Amino acid sequence: MSDINYYRGNFCVEVHPAPGSLVIFGASGDLAKRKLFPALYHLFRRNLLHEESRIVGCARTAYSDDGFRDHLRPFLTEGTQEQQTAFLAKVCYVPGDYSDSGFYRKLDNVLNALEAKNDLPSNRTFYLAMPASLYPAIIDKLSENGMLEESPEPDAPWRHVVLEKPFGRDFASAEALDRDLHSHMREDQIYRIDHYLGKDTVQNILMLRFANLVFEPVWNSRYIDHVQLTASETLGVENRAGYYEQAGLLRDMFQNHMLEMLSLAAMEMPASFSPDDVRSEKVKLIKSIRPFDLKHLDKTVVRGQYEGYRAEPGVAPDSRTETFVAAKLEIANWRWAGVPFYLRSGKRLAARKSEIAIVFKSIPHSIFAPIRARDMQPDTLVLKVQPNEGMELTIQAKQPGPKLCMGGVTMSFRYSDLPGGESFDAYERLLLDAMLGDQTLFIRSDSIAESWRLFTPLLENWESLPLETYPAGSDGPESAARLLFADDREWRAL
Ligand code: BG6
Repeated sequence: MSDINYYRGNFCVEVHPAPGSLVIFGASGDLAKRKLFPALYHLFRRNLLHEESRIVGCARTAYSDDGFRDHLRPFLTEGTQEQQTAFLAKVCYVPGDYSDSGFYRKLDNVLNALEAKNDLPSNRTFYLAMPASLYPAIIDKLSENGMLEESPEPDAPWRHVVLEKPFGRDFASAEALDRDLHSHMREDQIYRIDHYLGKDTVQNILMLRFANLVFEPVWNSRYIDHVQLTASETLGVENRAGYYEQAGLLRDMFQNHMLEMLSLAAMEMPASFSPDDVRSEKVKLIKSIRPFDLKHLDKTVVRGQYEGYRAEPGVAPDSRTETFVAAKLEIANWRWAGVPFYLRSGKRLAARKSEIAIVFKSIPHSIFAPIRARDMQPDTLVLKVQPNEGMELTIQAKQPGPKLCMGGVTMSFRYSDLPGGESFDAYERLLLDAMLGDQTLFIRSDSIAESWRLFTPLLENWESLPLETYPAGSDGPESAARLLFADDREWRAL
């Protein structure tokens, strides 16, 4: 079925994945127990896992099948004990050393036996929930053991590999990883996760923009003054210093989540809602972002580190890893010429909040003397990614009462107020899509390349920028505020 027909046939229909096996490498780790297994359990409770599907956990730790089920049970917090037991009956465990070919033969035998027992097509999804440094070796072994091979027959069972970020740490390493992956499988077998794309509110950006008439006419430099993208967290580095010290905020949040939100908010309308049409428009947008002016970086980028970061367990006492970045980006195309996009993200800030705020221009003339046009609060549309998922439009209105007063009022919609607004976790969406073979919400190889093309020069000049400290619980370094003051604007409150 062509992509377009897939959507015609499946729009607003609950699509159930074909039976198959989901193999989770890194199954004893944090991501697996906190996110993946609870998401799979939720899919199971919604009847969105085929009854013959099986989940195979793999890791070094030597669990028996039952031992592994006991390890998972505390993380399945909803439903009845019977439901938990029924879900866990679908789970088995294969311990082993990822560098040992014998482990892959053993895993293949387990999968063959599971498939033979049910006499069902042997679709297999391999989920690598582990440090990216291990990807090449594991993919190599899977391939060496023929476990990624698909028959060219139509409707033959597929092999999908789901990968977690980071996809490289700069342009060259991402390219090398990509070459490696493509030497063993086709792009349509690779599912690169950015969990932000699994959030309902992020997917809603496309519906809001392309299923309504009212926004498109004003979605451009004629009406929009600037756009603010925020992803702030109150948590610090927690127990992830080993990874974070190598990554830092720019690699951890900007190269992926922030850029994905930006591209959905700013891209052109795709020719269709097919995975590749949507993804091609996103890549085109990323390619249109103006490269950083490396000679004047301090005018457009701020890097910060929260006070106390260096005392966190596992962090070097003289660490120069950033936990905050703010940047001003420009998009060089007709729609956005002259509209700054201000992005900020950081850990240990005053609030947990992810949002995209579209700030409109002032009206050209005010008849409401003595209030001048420039003194009115600008109309603002806020796409609230989390928390309080939904959107808000703030406009000017007459205030109630006998006096003739004007002020901002906010119209808001919250997903949680809608019937059926029960949250569908990002990982549920993405696991389901990987099992359905829908790549719309996964990152394509060219998108990774273009994002690194943008950020690699910045990273190479990272040390030319001062690293400013900011108090935990604050709005970030003072220079972040100055970045907007310099343009006569200010950040929205966190
Ligand atoms: C992850 C980052 O991708 O996203 C974390 O590695 C960050 O450092 C997390 O905390 C934020 O995700 P969310 O969904 O809580 O905004």
